[in-house]
Amino acid sequence: MLQILEQVLNNQQRQQILDTLTQGNSHWQDGKLTAGVGVEEKKNNWQLSRDHPAYTALANTCLTALKAHPIFMSAALPKTFMPPLFSQYGVGQAYGLHVDNALHTHPDTGQWLRTDLSLTLFLNAPEDYEGGELVIADDYGEHAIKLAAGDAILYPSTSLHRVNSVRSGQRLAMVTWVQSLVRSDAQRQILHDLDISHVLLRQKLQQLNHGDIDNGLVAEELDRLNKSYHNLLRLWADC
Ligand code: NI
Repeated sequence: MLQILEQVLNNQQRQQILDTLTQGNSHWQDGKLTAGVGVEEKKNNWQLSRDHPAYTALANTCLTALKAHPIFMSAALPKTFMPPLFSQYGVGQAYGLHVDNALHTHPDTGQWLRTDLSLTLFLNAPEDYEGGELVIADDYGEHAIKLAAGDAILYPSTSLHRVNSVRSGQRLAMVTWVQSLVRSDAQRQILHDLDISHVLLRQKLQQLNHGDIDNGLVAEELDRLNKSYHNLLRLWADC
């Protein structure tokens, strides 16, 4: 599942992050430092050092915003996050076709994290740079993704993907990885469909019944739909 997440960051949060990222170059490191074995040669970008004094605040802003985003929570069912990476691609920089590492050691806890989902949050406007699309390959072909500032794309970490070369301007983004409570992409998709259907049906019924759900015609069906969602989650979640 490729899931676009609209407006993860509001303009104020985004501007705060951009202001920090564009202040001087002293805290940018070669992106190869965090590339997986065999992938170093393909990765040509800069990443903000985690030693930057503002790093923790920026990372917390992004992770808190993600946890408050209902579509993200429903689609990802996150258990653990890797600390975000803030990346910069200048003219001529790119990241060749690769698959993300299956396992990481979380730098703060030392615990293993299995990467089920990858996420890219676009920090500056698509008009600010040419090229720089995130291209994700799946069974249906290649998808070139370049989103509005503040929007994000969530995609299975199992897929091959690349970042096209930037032809002008500068591409700024945040990336992170999620271990989900539900390992299987197919099971997560079923849960997300059920969850969204339940929420949308409730909203429609509320409108039809002038806000009164419990006395509505299909209150019992809604309860059974919700019960199915939670009981499947109980079966499939690995806490
Ligand atoms: Ni990647």
